[in-house]
Amino acid sequence: MAELVPVEPFDIVIFGATGDLARRKLIPALFHRWCDGQIPENSRIIGVARDELTDAEFHERAAEFGLPDGASEQRRERWAEFIAHVRYIAADIEGESPGWAALKDALDPNEDKIRIFYLALPPSIYGKTCAAIGAHGLNTRGSRVILEKPIGRDYHSARLINEAVGAVFPENSIFRIDHYLGKETVQNLLILRFANMLLEPVWSAGGIDHVQITVAESLGAGTRASYYDRSGALRDMVQNHILQLLCLVAMEPPASLEADAVRAEKLKVLRALRLIKADQAGEAVVRGQYQAGISDGASAPAYAEEVGEESKTETFVAIRADIDNWRWAGVPFYLRTGKRMRARRSEIIIQFKPVPHDIINADAGVMQPNRLVIRLQPDEGVKLMMMTKDPGPGGVRLRYVPLNLSYAETFDQDYPDAYERLLMAVVRGNLGLFMRRDEVEAAWRWTDAVVAAWTDGACPLQFYPAGSDGPDKASLLLSRDGREWYDAERP
Ligand code: NDP
Ligand code: BG6
Repeated sequence: MAELVPVEPFDIVIFGATGDLARRKLIPALFHRWCDGQIPENSRIIGVARDELTDAEFHERAAEFGLPDGASEQRRERWAEFIAHVRYIAADIEGESPGWAALKDALDPNEDKIRIFYLALPPSIYGKTCAAIGAHGLNTRGSRVILEKPIGRDYHSARLINEAVGAVFPENSIFRIDHYLGKETVQNLLILRFANMLLEPVWSAGGIDHVQITVAESLGAGTRASYYDRSGALRDMVQNHILQLLCLVAMEPPASLEADAVRAEKLKVLRALRLIKADQAGEAVVRGQYQAGISDGASAPAYAEEVGEESKTETFVAIRADIDNWRWAGVPFYLRTGKRMRARRSEIIIQFKPVPHDIINADAGVMQPNRLVIRLQPDEGVKLMMMTKDPGPGGVRLRYVPLNLSYAETFDQDYPDAYERLLMAVVRGNLGLFMRRDEVEAAWRWTDAVVAAWTDGACPLQFYPAGSDGPDKASLLLSRDGREWYDAERP
């Protein structure tokens, strides 16, 4: 059973409290921790945004996601207790505002108490927000700041943000969130790799043919279309979530699980990623955008319709990435993500090489190399595909069967959502689940090269119907190398 580890009392200020992230993820995450008794009584939760709202009006807005329709009576009572602790203060970060003085009064003056500033804001005002926190004397000894992804939209803007934030907060008080690092199955990657002797000896070009990382979503850009249209799949998903997954698969064993030991190994992988050049982009990158179709059983509009105009932004991207180091020389990492895909499915597939010498009679059936499928969501689990003998008389017949670890069947319990876990990790000061400045900047360097390569027109948008597996051209990326995308639903 999961153990509830108590945390110290803390104050948290959510800048951007009326926004999508705060309402959909942060307030509900804090509520769930409250329900589990993990938020000490003398903690404070304060929401800040520009709208002039009373506490009651803010509570009503927060309830939309915090307290869903049909919640039980007991849940309603807990919500009432929780939300009574939540205050709202109106302040404009970009101007002088009486809200800053009110915020100072609302916070515990104890310099050493943990004080968290969560910037659920447009990244363009992260720097200004930190400067204002400093200028209004809110940055105490116990303060830390959480930055949401994406940090900037390229290497240059990320550096500027990091400089501005770094001018107010030391690096060990800056928690750059990538919520994928808070997912249960993502955290399990480290354990799978480094707590099992079995895998490490074959975890390299010697044993592995290639790796596939897929993060497919069935939802479209929806209410976030105006943000998404300025970002696109590469910046929204690959630069952060997918590269972090790639790092966890590809990194060398760290000397310990101490934050900087792990982050240093991830950084080496990011720095070893081969930059994609314009003359290679046509073969290494596929960009797509969804058109109208059937998604999750209902008709779904085209992306352009959601945005309200024609757009060149990609809602799908597939990339062949190569890591130039000894361990991974010649092992492609195929990365793929898209919105309005056939189903929500995030998984990592490690495709092993065939056995070096086949001694089984060809009549026994087809020999298939081992494959490890790490299912991140939904239906979390780990599956190792193996060759076995079909039981029974009549000679040898080969069967390719799974050794299956299903989280739902093995661990009969609910575990906290990524944001719940990450918020508590910030309170504990556990930086290991957050990105260091150099990691973010190295990820942007590689991403910028992809953008530069495709701006030359090397990767024209490929359209795909909503509810499909993405553009047909994405299959070519692998078939050109004699491979194909695997679907965990298939044997
Ligand atoms: P929204 O646009 O929905 O919300 C932005 C919030 O910032 C609003 O509360 C807005 O309130 C406030 N705000 C904007 N300008 C100011 C200002 N000058 N002074 C004070 N408050 C201001 O964005 P999201 O919630 O979707 O995203 C927030 C951040 O989180 C972004 O960096 C995004 O990339 C990131 N993110 C979001 C995810 C999501 O699922 N939504 C997922 C992952 C990351 P008002 O305009 O009333 O002041
Ligand atoms: C966010 C992206 O970071 O991750 C969204 O901005 C995306 O576009 C989301 O939908 C996916 O997260 P999850 O946890 O649902 O896989």
